[in-house]
Amino acid sequence: MSANIAEMERRREAARMGGGQKRIDAQHAKGKLTARERLDILLDEGSFEELDTYVEHDCVDFGMEDQRIPGDGVVTGSGTINGRLVYVFSQDFTVFGGSLSKRHAEKICKVMDTAMKVGAPVIGLNDSGGARIQEGVASLGGYAEVFQRNVLASGVIPQISLIMGPCAGGAVYSPAMTDFIFMVKDSSYMFVTGPDVVKTVTNEVVTQEELGGAVTHTTKTSVADLAFENDIETLLQTRNFFDYLPLSNREDVPERPTADPWDREEPSLDTLIPDNANQPYDMHEVIRKVLDEGDFFEIQPAHAGNILCGFGRVEGRTVGVVANQPMVLAGVLDINSSKKAARFVRFCDAFDIPILTFVDVPGFLPGTSQELGGIIKHGAKLLFAYAEATVPKITVITRKAYGGAYDVMASKHLRGDLNYAWPTAEIAVMGAKGAVEIIFRQDRDDPDKIAEKTKEYEDRFANPFVAASRGYIDEVIHPHSTRRRVALGLRKLRGKVLENPWKKHDNIPL
Ligand code: HXC
Repeated sequence: MSANIAEMERRREAARMGGGQKRIDAQHAKGKLTARERLDILLDEGSFEELDTYVEHDCVDFGMEDQRIPGDGVVTGSGTINGRLVYVFSQDFTVFGGSLSKRHAEKICKVMDTAMKVGAPVIGLNDSGGARIQEGVASLGGYAEVFQRNVLASGVIPQISLIMGPCAGGAVYSPAMTDFIFMVKDSSYMFVTGPDVVKTVTNEVVTQEELGGAVTHTTKTSVADLAFENDIETLLQTRNFFDYLPLSNREDVPERPTADPWDREEPSLDTLIPDNANQPYDMHEVIRKVLDEGDFFEIQPAHAGNILCGFGRVEGRTVGVVANQPMVLAGVLDINSSKKAARFVRFCDAFDIPILTFVDVPGFLPGTSQELGGIIKHGAKLLFAYAEATVPKITVITRKAYGGAYDVMASKHLRGDLNYAWPTAEIAVMGAKGAVEIIFRQDRDDPDKIAEKTKEYEDRFANPFVAASRGYIDEVIHPHSTRRRVALGLRKLRGKVLENPWKKHDNIPL
């Protein structure tokens, strides 16, 4: 018996060594941790239970029959993060470059299938040279099996991808279909075709970093949500992030104790809005002053800064926050901000996370680049996302809510549950200057008349009371009482039941 146990231990130890000390050293020399070291940081101490430790590939081509390494380049199993269950797979670059064989894919699929059955998130740690070249089409089939599961799991369990090394070719499409992608700066990259192929086909010269590094994907392309300095920061921030998420679409949002009083008043909000309507202020301040302990986990902070999206808590329970940011492009809605917020709103709705929206929006961004870039279809994404969402929706208009953007930003007409406005709100078809130039075009050479009419328009419409008199705003509130109003609203809306008509699925303007 003890010999059997010794044999098991010997095999386990062999698996733990992955591709061997030399390759582990090479991984460390690149500033990267190994697959198992990463899991040690991501998961609660001692919670990781590995499965499929002894799985090997079945390839007999190109001398592969003599190269079998237990685990086959991916470490899989489950563990906990702050006591809550999570399924994980962590690709081991020291084993065949973390490349994906058929068996490697089967291990990932097993984890995903189990996670879906029990209702727990999947976190994938990607560090791979792509398809196992020696296996050919079997490897491609393996990828497609993973893709299929990514799609079936979408909206059922949260899926998070950490990109911690190469992720190239078709391999990028698994992370691309997960809910959130976090990348490590300088050591990770994602692209469909790398710099060499790009040079051959288009004659463009570009570095790996420019084409698909963490900065590129979190600023320009928005493929990734966040970029971190190194492996450790990425893993610790993922733990932090995980605490906001429900385990599945069957579970309620997590709740954590808070010492922050639900009715805390914030007098500074009463004077936050500048007298001059064209002067910006930082919407982060409003968000942080309303959320528990000022904690706001922002998603895509480096992309489309004119809209802010992220998670926080009120009375210890997760809320999704969407807010126009007057500091960037005056908070206007454009193609990028619409797409960014639409995806965020849909994630919240899929997982029953209430949505808190702060509005200060001058409208949609005019210009040929926007119109020819398809702002009609992209703006419609956000409109569609808000309109289909059935989770509790609370909206606070702090200042401008003009034109179509007023409708889009979780207005009453899109089934907003509680629509509040600060006394500084201006809710109208457009700003006074633009409105007067159109209505009183015949007087455009008479500056006194234009000024008089502008003042008249402002007096009439640059306030929340016209909308409130129609019931489009449920109440005009003191800014200092916003947290109390939001907390009470969310508490009362916990029992909200609202269903959309039956359909196979909708047809959001993609
Ligand atoms: C098998 C691979 C591999 C792969 C790397 N290795 N990629 N083995 N299949 N795809 C092995 C190497 O042979 C090497 O083995 C070890 O992993 C480490 O690789 P190095 O090249 O030494 O590491 P590095 O210099 O860091 O370069 C990493 C790399 C490079 C940039 C990822 O290895 C590379 O370009 N690999 C090929 C990438 C690729 O073309 N993949 C297929 C893409 S097509 P030893 O024994 O020396 O340690 C694809 C299609 C998917 O993925 C489609 C899905 C739909």
